[in-house]
Amino acid sequence: MKKLILAGLCALMIGAIPSRAQWGPRAIPEPTDGLKDAYKDYFMVGVAVNNRNVTDAGQIALIKREFNSITAENAMKPQPTEPRKGEFHWEDADRIADFCRRNGIKLRGHTLMWHSQIGPWMYQDEDGKLLPKEEFYANMKHHIQAVVNRYKDVVYCWDVVNEAVADSPVRPGGSELRDSPMYRIAGEEFIYKAFEYAHEADPDALLFYNDYNDAEPAKSRRIYNLVKRMKDAGVPVDGIGMQGHYNIYGPSMGDVDAAITLYSQVVKHIHITELDIRINEDMGGGLRFNQGQARISDWQRTLQQDQYVSLFKVLRKHKDVIDCVTFWNVGDRDSWLGVNNAPLLFDQDYRPKQAYLAVKGFDPKMDAAVIKEDFRPSELNQPGQEYPMVNSQGYVRLRVNAPQARSVIASLGSGTVLHKDADGFWTGTTAAPEDEGFHYYHLTVDGGVFNDPGTLNFFGSTRWESGVEVPAHDAAFYGERDVPHGNVQQILFRSASTDQLRRAFVYTPPQYGKDRKKYPVLYLQHGWGENEYAWWNQGKANLIMDNLIAEGRIEPFIIVMTYGMTNDTRIGGLGGFNYKDFETVLCDELVPYVDAHFRTVARKDGRAMAGLSMGGMETHAITLARPEMFAYYGLLSGGVYTPEEIQDPRQVKGIFIGCGSKEGPDRIMKAAADLQAAGFNAKGYVSEGTAHEFLTWRRCLYEMAPMLFR
Ligand code: XIL
Repeated sequence: MKKLILAGLCALMIGAIPSRAQWGPRAIPEPTDGLKDAYKDYFMVGVAVNNRNVTDAGQIALIKREFNSITAENAMKPQPTEPRKGEFHWEDADRIADFCRRNGIKLRGHTLMWHSQIGPWMYQDEDGKLLPKEEFYANMKHHIQAVVNRYKDVVYCWDVVNEAVADSPVRPGGSELRDSPMYRIAGEEFIYKAFEYAHEADPDALLFYNDYNDAEPAKSRRIYNLVKRMKDAGVPVDGIGMQGHYNIYGPSMGDVDAAITLYSQVVKHIHITELDIRINEDMGGGLRFNQGQARISDWQRTLQQDQYVSLFKVLRKHKDVIDCVTFWNVGDRDSWLGVNNAPLLFDQDYRPKQAYLAVKGFDPKMDAAVIKEDFRPSELNQPGQEYPMVNSQGYVRLRVNAPQARSVIASLGSGTVLHKDADGFWTGTTAAPEDEGFHYYHLTVDGGVFNDPGTLNFFGSTRWESGVEVPAHDAAFYGERDVPHGNVQQILFRSASTDQLRRAFVYTPPQYGKDRKKYPVLYLQHGWGENEYAWWNQGKANLIMDNLIAEGRIEPFIIVMTYGMTNDTRIGGLGGFNYKDFETVLCDELVPYVDAHFRTVARKDGRAMAGLSMGGMETHAITLARPEMFAYYGLLSGGVYTPEEIQDPRQVKGIFIGCGSKEGPDRIMKAAADLQAAGFNAKGYVSEGTAHEFLTWRRCLYEMAPMLFR
């Protein structure tokens, strides 16, 4: 919620929002191409369809845009095609096959032999007695060959046998195969026969063994064993189908990677046949449908996106053996798990999710990226804490102890998901290098928000957040150098208008008080969610000043930092934000207090006001409303001035406008140029490689200070 407000503010002031998944769902524009296009150099991307999907115009358009392989969700299974012996129903299967023929989309056949969705006539008599093996085989052969023959012009592969391997745990000495009626009649041989019958009907089709819990180490070993025995016996099996009904907690990508590696030792073709990633933990055999969780939380969305993104990264790595990845249903509304499990990349209204963009927008260069193992503790860590760490490329690695937790996410990058090791420690590394500079973050543990106990705290997003510092290449300008240092002191001033004792921090230069000199004052405001601590704590304003003064680059001045009363603003409330209350506190209470208690140049020429983000909005409003108060104005990622809105050009001696290069800087530079053209002393500045964050504003202060009070 808070992040959303922040996003809204950024958008309003600057027109650029850093993309962060944890800021909640955002409307995603209609894609112009599909997953199949993004993955054309890797594998086909398929989808399981029902009748509605192939008859509704909107859904047809989506299918044609996104997918180049289709599976009939139910229509080609044994029961729907032949519910009673010799009684074939082709209508539904034909409709899907015709759809594929018409549109030139490949069809994956699913499934010829399964213990579920099968007419009992196939394996038992009317009294429920299992049939003799020969009769079962005759039924099976007739069924399989009827189906395969009917669609062999359009089906390129078949899931011949589905789910014949036993679930874990298998008792010692127990069968590795499922105790199904077919197994009881014929043992493992029925599987071999099914493949032989299918192959006989269509020698060109690729034939798959298909199963779930496909990445669980014990079961994947049994699947491997079965297919290996089939291969050794000369059975025409070409591939293994990994159903891929996963969830936000598992399987681990290590297990998926290991399973694919194992399977690829025995087959040349692996398909992910029924992919979905549900937002609860139910897996494979033990499904409980629809948990009543109609509301999906941001943290679940982040876990789901991470699971999808990580999975596709593993799949891309194995592109040599993986040739098709099929989603089990088009959108959440269709999902066999019920809409509340929200397991797909398209939501219940067939709109793409953020996770869709993330899966599609992979960067092949990042797949090959090597993370340097030169991590060092962040300089903002609590004493003695090793983590978080930062490496020389800007990757951040986190590690926290939470032995009983189910999920841990750090709000860095688009949400960095941590994984638990055997000791109960959760570790994760950002997917990409973070920008140079300071970043707020927090942890979301099982949906609750906590700070990382490894770091010091910094007030942002209306709370004391964790923070991490990626050393900037130009870090010296805010570094603790061996130069004379000024002071930051806390002052408490009485505010009649708010009937409160209010706090400000005051930076005084190193020379202050050592002579009779009077100093000009910059009133410097923080942004939304922050407070009077921000500018010297995470902003390092005092160090920047000390360094500038030591370099002789500025006229020394005082900085006053107080709370800008910004944090009660809620979504949609920005337009109605009342800066008047703060204007009164600042201009009528704080400025007189400072002038009375410090050696200041107590007139307009000796005063500047600047602010970052929402503090920029306040600066803009207050400087224009009180032209008699301040002679220098600064907006840092906080909007622009236009020549027209400044009533009298003589009211202002200098205007600074700056932002980060990732915040849409064109508007900033144009505004500065317009002001210059209109005769103002204006400076525009863009901080390279930074966004709406504190390195931008540290640099802005460094660039702005020399133009003040000259
Ligand atoms: C599911 C379908 O999606 C449902 O509509 C149907 O009611 C049950 O079967 N493994 C498989 C698929 O191989 O055929 C199953 O499909 C999902 C689990």
